[in-house]
Amino acid sequence: MNKKTALILSCPVMLLLMSLKTAFTPMQVQRPLMDSLKRPAKFGFGRPASAREIAAWDIDVRPDGKGLPAGQGDVKRGRILYVQKCAMCHGTDGTEKPGIKLLGNALVGDTLASSKPKTIGNYWPYATTLFDYMRRAMPYNLPGSLSNEEVYSITAYLLNANKIIKADVVLDAKNLYKVVMPAKKLFIMDDRKGGPEVK
Ligand code: HEC
Repeated sequence: MNKKTALILSCPVMLLLMSLKTAFTPMQVQRPLMDSLKRPAKFGFGRPASAREIAAWDIDVRPDGKGLPAGQGDVKRGRILYVQKCAMCHGTDGTEKPGIKLLGNALVGDTLASSKPKTIGNYWPYATTLFDYMRRAMPYNLPGSLSNEEVYSITAYLLNANKIIKADVVLDAKNLYKVVMPAKKLFIMDDRKGGPEVK
């Protein structure tokens, strides 16, 4: 065997050995990340939220009316606002589902529990939730942009369109929580005791 042939023959053997080495060498054991516990007391960024900033987030409204802001709104103004700010997605009357491809329920329909599609009128147990939801989440493309008066007005319009309040009702913090939604009776308080209480 001359030198050249020996070199050519040894090549595949070398390659085989190399691949075996890679296959059988144990992967480097990963050490868990250790917390050095030498953290600084402050990281040097951020600042305490101001009372005003907290107030801007602290806007939840309860079914008993707690949290409802000052202001008032009526059906007529609500209708105009609805057409300006909501109809492009929810349809001119709110009877359609938002958009064609967007998820969501129709806003207006009859208030029978058995009826479809689900609407505020046949599915939502509290009028205050409607106020709370629209104030924080709608219009979908500009949430938080409605003034409290506007939310009261649109709430009035939608409750009237669902035949829950009369057209001349002016809604405010004193009467919105008193509006009884047709679906309220479908919800039962979970008052089970003894065991995990899931509310
Ligand atoms: C850009 C489109 C768009 C606009 C504009 C818009 N919405 Fe919506 N709306 C949606 C979508 C999408 C949903 C469903 C959201 C979800 O289920 O998470 C929705 C859901 C709702 C719901 C809940 C319906 C239900 O029964 O689940 C209400 C109420 C509502 N919108 C009111 C309004 C009001 C009032 C306005 C105008 C101030 C408005 N929306 C403007 C897209 C829009």
